[in-house]
Amino acid sequence: MSHTNLPEKLTAYMSRSNVALALSTDDGDVPLSYVNKAFCDLTGYKPEDVIGQNCRFLQGEDSDPAHKKALHDFVMDPDIDSGRFPILNYRKDGTTFLNFVLMTRLRDRKGKTRFILASQFDMTSTEKRSRMPAHDKKLNAELAEVNAMSVEFGLAMRGSAQTIADSIAMLARMSLNE
Ligand SMILES: Cc1cc2nc3c(=O)[nH]c(=O)nc-3n(C[C@H](O)[C@H](O)[C@H](O)COP(=O)(O)O)c2cc1C
Repeated sequence: MSHTNLPEKLTAYMSRSNVALALSTDDGDVPLSYVNKAFCDLTGYKPEDVIGQNCRFLQGEDSDPAHKKALHDFVMDPDIDSGRFPILNYRKDGTTFLNFVLMTRLRDRKGKTRFILASQFDMTSTEKRSRMPAHDKKLNAELAEVNAMSVEFGLAMRGSAQTIADSIAMLARMSLNE
C-alpha cells in the first residue's frame, strides 16, 4: 500500500500532533510512508529525506547491538502487538540522542500487519525523562484517537496503552542498571 493509499484522515490527524509519529507499511523492509513534523524536528530530517527508507538510518556506530536486536526482533515477529525500546540515535547533523521508541502494529481484520506506527521520545537527559509522564499521557490519547480512526478503515491497534503504562517501570529499571 503506497502513501497515496494511506487513509488520508489518519495522516491528517498525525500531522497535527506534536508527538513524534512515523508510519511504515509492512512491505519488505518496512519503509517509512509518513513522518510528522515532530519527528522531523526531533531528527533533523525532512520527509523527502526519509520516505521510502527503513528507519534504521537513525542508528549509528555507537548504537548498542542489543538495543538494535530488540527493535529487529519486534519488527520480525508478527505476533508482538506493541513494544517500547531505548536506542541511541543520530540526527541528520550527526548529534546523538537516546530515543525511547514505541512501536505498535495496525492490523487488518485477518490479523495481518498493514502498518507499523512508531513514536519517538528523546530521553537523553534526566530533565527530558522527567517530561515522560506528561508526554505519555498525550501519546496515549493520540494513539487512542488513531486507533478509533483506524477502525473505520478496518484496521486495529492492540497493546499500545499497556506498553505505555509499563514504560515508567521500564525506565526505572533502565536507570537502576546504569
Ligand atoms: C515505523 C518505524 C519506526 C521506527 N523508528 C525507529 C527509530 O526512531 N529509531 C530506530 O533506531 N529504529 C527505528 N525503527 C526500527 C528500524 O527501522 C529497524 O526496523 C530495526 O532497527 C531493525 O533493523 P535491522 O533490520 O537493521 O535489524 C523503526 C521501525 C519502524 C517500522
